[in-house]
Amino acid sequence: MTSPLALLGGEKAVQSDPGNTFVWPIITPEMEAAVLEVLRAGAMSGVDVTRKFEQEFAAWHGMTYALAHNTGTAALETAMFAIGIGAGDEIICPSLTYWASALPVYALGGTVVFADVAPHSLCIDPRDIEHRITARTKAIVAVHYKGYPADMDAIMEIARRHHLKVIEDGSHAHGACYKGRLVGAIGDVSAFSLMSGKSFAVGEGGILLTNDRATYERAIAFAHYERHGELTLEDLAPGAGLPLGGHKYRMHQLSSAVGRVQIKNYPAQMAEIDRAMNAFCDGIEGLRGLGPHRPPSGSGLTMGGWYAPSVKYCPEELGGLSATRFCQALAAERVTVTPGANKPLHLHPLFNTLDVYRQGRPTREAHLPQGADIRQPEGSLPVTEEVQHRILNAPWFKKYRPDIIAEYVAAFKKVSSHYQELLPGDPGNPPDMGSWGLSVRRDA
Ligand SMILES: Cc1ncc(COP(=O)(O)O)c(C=O)c1O
Repeated sequence: MTSPLALLGGEKAVQSDPGNTFVWPIITPEMEAAVLEVLRAGAMSGVDVTRKFEQEFAAWHGMTYALAHNTGTAALETAMFAIGIGAGDEIICPSLTYWASALPVYALGGTVVFADVAPHSLCIDPRDIEHRITARTKAIVAVHYKGYPADMDAIMEIARRHHLKVIEDGSHAHGACYKGRLVGAIGDVSAFSLMSGKSFAVGEGGILLTNDRATYERAIAFAHYERHGELTLEDLAPGAGLPLGGHKYRMHQLSSAVGRVQIKNYPAQMAEIDRAMNAFCDGIEGLRGLGPHRPPSGSGLTMGGWYAPSVKYCPEELGGLSATRFCQALAAERVTVTPGANKPLHLHPLFNTLDVYRQGRPTREAHLPQGADIRQPEGSLPVTEEVQHRILNAPWFKKYRPDIIAEYVAAFKKVSSHYQELLPGDPGNPPDMGSWGLSVRRDA
């Protein structure tokens, strides 16, 4: 008797052509026209379109200031500078994130101490922050990882008590809500990547938000010399005219034009993604070994555009079946998803041994007092280190198509219920699971 599993000779669970179910970003004629208008106006460089985009992005978030950047990485570095991070300062950041949440701090002479994540949210665990605070700590970075809003009440409470700033990295969570507030509008400053793989996509780009005038002006002073006319703070005046950071981080106006249209389209697109992803999550809820990565209903937390959504994977409920083997079986059903997530940053040589700027010490501690060693060895952040084996990328539905979603749910259901047939031949997980950047396939 053949198994129903496609990997072992059965029918594939996914039979229908998904069409444009997964295609992102959605390029509309209005977007094309907006880009052409900028090209024809000879306005690729400049800031007039960008300023309009900033005003609209700030208004959407109920924030006073927005400053558009050419990448999310640039926006994060600028945010760190803007709140006053400098040589010898420490930030506390999750290790389970894209490197840009932390790495720009090196360029400012600062360094990072990593905290573990909470298993339910995969965001920084507030219970793992406080004991890491030292006299050098200046800020906490809250990453809303894979669309799940971080526990901002607890993070803000710790920060206020210790006189720390909070930087929100909203790159995975555009439009996500935390108890009635949009993420990115809660901390002292926030930064979002807007690159084309993200749920709010403008090409390459990033944006910084703040309500604090001094933070905004320091951000301008750092990397936006063309706007130095806006500076009013006396301490910034002597540097006016040249970017303090030696950077030119302004957004390309073609991206700004795309962003202006995206702002109009995003609420409806996000609502459709939310409906589709919740239908998928409802479908896999309760399956053996699987669970959705989404906030519980009634929590006041929402997922926004569901960037890089995930399914939680519990090998213990599946006889120890590896996530790798589970994904092989899904692939045979025509569901192409990979296991794992961002690799733990604290285990990379860049956060341990590398002396990037030739200072005779690992860059991680180059500006710390002699003898201070903040490096974090293997085993120090258990949830982060284990997560590669406990997470699968979920299909990221952009359209609400119940029939297509049902086929994908059927694939997960089939593989979960026939897990025992997959145990023989399980190659196990490779030692090097995950990746340094999440790449989201256009067809899943
Ligand atoms: C969490 C997070 N922060 C920051 C960034 C950096 O953004 P960008 O790629 O636009 O520089 C990314 C993007 O990939 C990200 O995933």
